[in-house]
Amino acid sequence: MATLPIITLPDPVLRKISDPVERVDEAVVKLMDDMLETMYAAPGIGLAAIQVGVPRRIVVLDTADEGEPKSPLVMVNPEIIALGQTTRMYEEGCLSIPDVRVDIERPETVTVRFIDRAGKQQELAADGLLATAIQHELDHLDGHLIIDFLSRLKRDIVIRKFKKQAR
Ligand code: NI
Repeated sequence: MATLPIITLPDPVLRKISDPVERVDEAVVKLMDDMLETMYAAPGIGLAAIQVGVPRRIVVLDTADEGEPKSPLVMVNPEIIALGQTTRMYEEGCLSIPDVRVDIERPETVTVRFIDRAGKQQELAADGLLATAIQHELDHLDGHLIIDFLSRLKRDIVIRKFKKQAR
């Protein structure tokens, strides 16, 4: 396994729409394992393939508390098939936008269908932090970022800051 460099704002790659994975082969499994290692090293609770420069619909997650056993989740071609009616507000961060937190209100529960590491179709009903993290990671697959939930003015300030840092 290897840790991979994480792409950060303002890299336009983050706005790409990721393509579906045709089959879970050795290369995809290796990428998922490297993504997990990268996420744990960061540390973070979720990572999408586009954040390491691969425009494929793959996300990895682990929302276990510190001190709890690891509980890695990998999802290929994930699709949300149901969203709850009630919402939950959470201050989200993103490994591609270091030191920025955004309050985001999203459905509190979500059901997601995906292909797992073994190539099998799975369905998972999630709530709380995992439901938030799943929605955040799936946003990445369509080029959406947490700063899109900010007002245009605030978003521009964040983007300008990262452009300046990148110079
Ligand atoms: Ni993110």
